[in-house]
Amino acid sequence: MGILKGKKGIIFGALDEHSIAWKVAERCYEEGAEFVLTNAPVALRMGEINKLAEKTGSEVVPADATNMEDLGKLFDVAIEKFGKIDFILHSIGMSVNVRKDKPYTDLNYSWLEKGWDISAVSFHKVMKTAWDKDCMNEWGSILALSYIAAQRVFPNYNDMADNKAYLESIARSFGYFWGKEKKVRVNTISQSPTPTTAGQGVEGFGGFLSVAEEISPLGNATGDDCADLCVMMFSDYTKRVTLQNLYNDGGYSNTGISEGLVKKFMEK
Ligand SMILES: NC(=O)c1ccc[n+]([C@@H]2O[C@H](COP(=O)([O-])OP(=O)(O)OC[C@H]3O[C@@H](n4cnc5c(N)ncnc54)[C@H](O)[C@@H]3O)[C@@H](O)[C@H]2O)c1
Repeated sequence: MGILKGKKGIIFGALDEHSIAWKVAERCYEEGAEFVLTNAPVALRMGEINKLAEKTGSEVVPADATNMEDLGKLFDVAIEKFGKIDFILHSIGMSVNVRKDKPYTDLNYSWLEKGWDISAVSFHKVMKTAWDKDCMNEWGSILALSYIAAQRVFPNYNDMADNKAYLESIARSFGYFWGKEKKVRVNTISQSPTPTTAGQGVEGFGGFLSVAEEISPLGNATGDDCADLCVMMFSDYTKRVTLQNLYNDGGYSNTGISEGLVKKFMEK
């Protein structure tokens, strides 16, 4: 429908075709947007992102999202190419404690700090870089991806739960200033469990996915559903939606239990 025609942006976090950011990039391209793709240098070495770049006619710029110098260079490339930009997607997450199966009750704090920096503080760093360079057009849109473990307990999600709570708070805190001073909106999307590299790193992910599917009246939101919502959030149809955590979860967040789940226990 071309609802992003003329919009320019930066998309963080497309690792492979399963990545949410990959699907968002494909949908943004279909809707007429132009963007720079970026990921950590180590992720780019896998080479997959070049396929996406070719498909969407995008440039790929390496940047570790925790490194202010990398971010500065990335934004300079985008500004050189597009002038001011209209949207940013932060689709980044990683916990060393999750990766190394370190339980929440026995966290390694230096791993915690690394995961917090990558998964949460990097969102502040990205926004600060854009802020200092004054490179967002009025009515622009900045999005990050979150998970309901920020509000409710999911034991295996480990320290990522705390990172997501921090991420959502940054969206509100920085989003206030973006709204007031630059007329830019900042939101997070709280997405259903989705089979991606990051998702599948969580212990018992298959179980997570099936339980959420069973409980959600509309079933789990897929990566493609998330991409559709991101397109809408980058479009001019959502100009005054800001400081929100938007659940894209098939109704999971407001459902206590499903009849199907009760039936399964009654059978036992
Ligand atoms: N998959 C799920 O179940 C699910 C559910 C809700 C929210 N999310 C969130 O969605 C976002 C995207 O994850 P995904 O599921 O598409 O998995 P993914 O593994 O495809 O994407 C995570 C990305 O983070 C990037 N990254 C890691 N460290 C980085 C760094 N230092 N600098 C820049 N990039 C870095 C990785 O290279 C990768 O591209 C994450 O914030 C994740 O927490 C995922």
